[in-house]
Amino acid sequence: MLKNKTIILGVCGGIAAYKAVELLRLLTRGGADVHVIMTRSAQEFIAPLTFQALSNHPVHTELFNLIGEDEIGHISLADRADLFLIVPATGNIIGKIAGGIADDMLTTTVMATTAPVLFAPAMNVNMYRNHLYQENEEKLRRHGYHFVAPVSGRLACGWEGEGKLAAPEAIFEAAVVALTPQDLAGRVILVTAGPTREELDPVRYISNHSSGKMGYALARAARHRGARVILVSGPTALPYPEGVEAVPVVSATDMLDAVMLHVDGCDAVIKAAAVADYRPEMRNGTKIKKQGDTISLELVKNPDILALLGSRERRPFLAGFAAETDNVGGNAEKKLTAKNLDMIIANDVSQEDAGFNVDTNRALLLFKEGGSHECELMTKDQLANVILDVISARLPTR
Ligand code: PMT
Repeated sequence: MLKNKTIILGVCGGIAAYKAVELLRLLTRGGADVHVIMTRSAQEFIAPLTFQALSNHPVHTELFNLIGEDEIGHISLADRADLFLIVPATGNIIGKIAGGIADDMLTTTVMATTAPVLFAPAMNVNMYRNHLYQENEEKLRRHGYHFVAPVSGRLACGWEGEGKLAAPEAIFEAAVVALTPQDLAGRVILVTAGPTREELDPVRYISNHSSGKMGYALARAARHRGARVILVSGPTALPYPEGVEAVPVVSATDMLDAVMLHVDGCDAVIKAAAVADYRPEMRNGTKIKKQGDTISLELVKNPDILALLGSRERRPFLAGFAAETDNVGGNAEKKLTAKNLDMIIANDVSQEDAGFNVDTNRALLLFKEGGSHECELMTKDQLANVILDVISARLPTR
């Protein structure tokens, strides 16, 4: 996700400095090359060696140093950066940068960079609410600097309120957004994900093996690319991606209601959910007792959500999935036409490394206007971006 990206992580003196270590791990795990600059006060809280070991680079603490033979440290780092993160950002560093002061390695490098700069502030609640601080933040925002707002909670100083550093995962997500072209900004995309559960009684249900991974990858990628994302999700074990509007549902009829409630105003609907085609004719109010050697279930057809969307006069761009075990292209094409879709993503769910409950997928994309695009084995995150590339290019310009 962050492959080939160079990120400068500036760490300031605050009790939350230890959380910058966790952020560094997330960034390097995401593929980024991270260089750390620590202020003098930051070193009171945590030793540079920790960051050095985890980033695989020496930590920068002094302004007047050279990198290699003839590279001036702060200019070289500033030029190399794709993104600059300051975590935790103290009231002091924000005040200094807002005032144009550059008197140490961190402030000098920030001033010299043309990369986007993202602050994650952490401080006492009264410092955070102080007018001078707020004016400094406002000024920096006006000049195009980005912020990940602190959260409310119990602060290290004993006070309760805003000022707690945002979670490393939230800062990581904001970093990914800052590094991703915002081609879906202003768009609203509804994604369905996961299985549906059709209850037989209070303890049993009919369902399928969908984990939600494909739909969640789509929701996360669309969010990273700037879309407002509504994620209608059946029951899964996954955490909702940061920044999406999650609408939890259980059954196919719940999903139908949720989709119809949110579809107006959407630019695209992507239906990655594995919706049960049938449900028990009736749900028993109490647990069905064990009876003879066999038991028969009467099932009735569920509404086809995608087909209902396809039959609407005014409808958003519609992308369906086809989970197939044979004649993948042929069956998917029939669904594309029958449900009046703009595109369908066919996956062969009989393969071990594709389809249900794995991190990879391979797919055949078919389009309403004809033509197809074959995607070899790739991660679901990668496939999500390929699908969004297609949708982004096909959405009408506004
Ligand atoms: O969740 P994962 O573990 O990551 O697995 C991903 C996946 C295999 C579930 C996903 O890639 C996938 O193929 N999803 C569609 C599964 C499916 O229900 O396919 P289908 O061929 O039965 O349905 C075709 C399309 O109609 C689908 O977009 C489905 O959401 C939609 N549908 C189906 C039935 C119904 N009653 N209403 C619908 O809207």
